[in-house]
Parts: sequence; C-alpha cells; structure tokens
Amino acid sequence: MNNAMAGVPVITLDGPTASGKGSVADGVAHALGFHVLDSGALYRLTALDAERLGIDLDDEAELAACALALSPTFTASRIFMDSRDVTDAIRAERIGNLASTIAPYPALRAALLDRQRAFRRAPGLVADGRDMGTVVFPDADLKVFLVADVAARADRRYRQLIERGAPADLDVIAHELCDRDARDANRTTSPLVAAADAMTIDSSALGLQDVIERVLELARAAGIGR
Ligand code: DC
Repeated sequence: MNNAMAGVPVITLDGPTASGKGSVADGVAHALGFHVLDSGALYRLTALDAERLGIDLDDEAELAACALALSPTFTASRIFMDSRDVTDAIRAERIGNLASTIAPYPALRAALLDRQRAFRRAPGLVADGRDMGTVVFPDADLKVFLVADVAARADRRYRQLIERGAPADLDVIAHELCDRDARDANRTTSPLVAAADAMTIDSSALGLQDVIERVLELARAAGIGR
C-alpha cells in the first residue's frame, strides 16, 4: 500500500452470492459519499472476455493474462469494455458461474489484486466481494460479512431476473447458488470466509434499508465517515 492510500478508510462487505452485498455497498457508499468496488464485476469481466477470446478454462496463465489486459471503464451505472457496453452481459447467470469456475486460479487472482486496490481513493471506499476483508484490504477499518439463507437469496435472485425480463426458475437458481457457494468457499486460494475481525449480519429477514442502516451504525461506531 502506498502512503496516499494509508489514510483512506475502507469498508469491506464479503459474503455469498445474492446476499445483497452489491445493493448494500451502493447504499452505504451513497450515504457516506464513498467510492464503490464491485470486485465480482472484475471476475465476471475476465470470464466474459475469456469466453469471447475462446481461452481454454484450464489455461491458468492465459486466463491471468486476460485479467491483466482488461481495460474496463466504470461509469455511475454502466460498465464498458473498450467501447462495448457489457453491463448486462456480465450479469448473466452463465457468466457468474463461469467467473466462479475460473476464480480459484491463484495467478488470475494475483492479476486482479493491484487493480482492486487502486479503487482505494479519498474520501473512502466500500468494497464488496468474497475476499475483500481477508486478502485485498486486510487493514480495512470495518469488515462486514453478509449472510442470508439459501431460500431468501434464491428468492432475491429470482426477482432480479424477472425484473430484467430474463428467464428464471426458482429451483434451478437455488441449486446453482448452492453449487456456487461450495465452489467459492472450498477453494484453497482466497476462499469465501469471514475475516476473524468481521461483523456478521444475517439479512434473511431484513430489508435492504435495514441492512444499510446497520452497516452505517457500525461505520459510525468505527469512526468512519463525515
Ligand atoms: O459477486 P459476484 O456474484 O458478482 O461474483 C462472481 C464470482 O466471482 C463469484 O462467484 C466468485 C468470484 N469472486 C471472487 O472469487 N472473489 C471476489 N472478491 C469476487 C468475486
């Protein structure tokens, strides 16, 4: 970490697929005026580009090179790769599953490390993912581990897909969530696990605003924000 980054506060939000991390991260960042890192988007962008380039999913070196070569542009609501708007393409369940399949490769994870840390800019950052508090920002000022039971998460994902007009089957979604949880949690490199100093919030029975408020309360208690 360079000195300029040392004083910039970071809140990490880790947790399983569809636990609501992204929406909570956006809400917390908005309330505090902080930047957001959606680290899953970087894994999804790598998966999308690897597919476009026809890279063999067993070829760790080529996948890492693909991750290193990414040149995405993040605007307030869209993500561009070169001049292509890939916002919707990376949200497809197929690309999420592909991202989870290639994410265990240490070389690929290493290739994305500096890119993720570069999001740490004043006045602060809210970073969501699987290893934000354990690996990418181990010195974060507040670490939250967001969980929710499979039924609640499958229901949320189902509603998101229906809203987008995408095909959705609740049973298939629940099944794929469990598979993805197992893959993300059981890999040896940077597995999905709560940092020892993380605060766990179970959002199964909570609304989005309730979770955002809880995180903001924890942030205030940690002396973060305005
Ligand atoms: O958060 P998401 O669903 O957009 O992430 C897609 C996949 O990317 C996830 O299943 C595993 C991988 N990922 C990861 O390994 N580490 C992260 N910090 C974020 C995502």
